[in-house]
Amino acid sequence: RQRAHAPYSKFQVGAAILCDDGSISSGCNIENASYGLTVCAERNAVGAMVLGARKPVAVAIVADSREPTPPCGMCRQVLAEFGGDSLPVVSRTLAGKEARWTMAELLPHAFTRSFL
Ligand code: THU
Repeated sequence: RQRAHAPYSKFQVGAAILCDDGSISSGCNIENASYGLTVCAERNAVGAMVLGARKPVAVAIVADSREPTPPCGMCRQVLAEFGGDSLPVVSRTLAGKEARWTMAELLPHAFTRSFL
């Protein structure tokens, strides 16, 4: 989170993905002067993850929000590509408030490769 490039929103987000081999891949949000090119922390963590392990067992998110930040819709779809319905997603605020969801709760009826 501290490495986030978020000069426009000032909303810094960190994400970490624990994989079945014990590795942890992390990411932060990277904004752009062309705002629509912003990439969230979660998707950047997935980008780091695919360089190594690819079986997530848990996802963590941290942001300085009043309530724990859930992943955006686009990130939910990208996480669903690699994690199953039961993948736990844990989000915390800097004050330590925590929320937990499963991927199935965040993205019911996910579009997956099984439809292709
Ligand atoms: N953002 C994330 O990185 N992850 C989320 O889960 C929600 C939003 C970023 C995108 C943008 O840089 C900033 O937070 C404000 O939307």
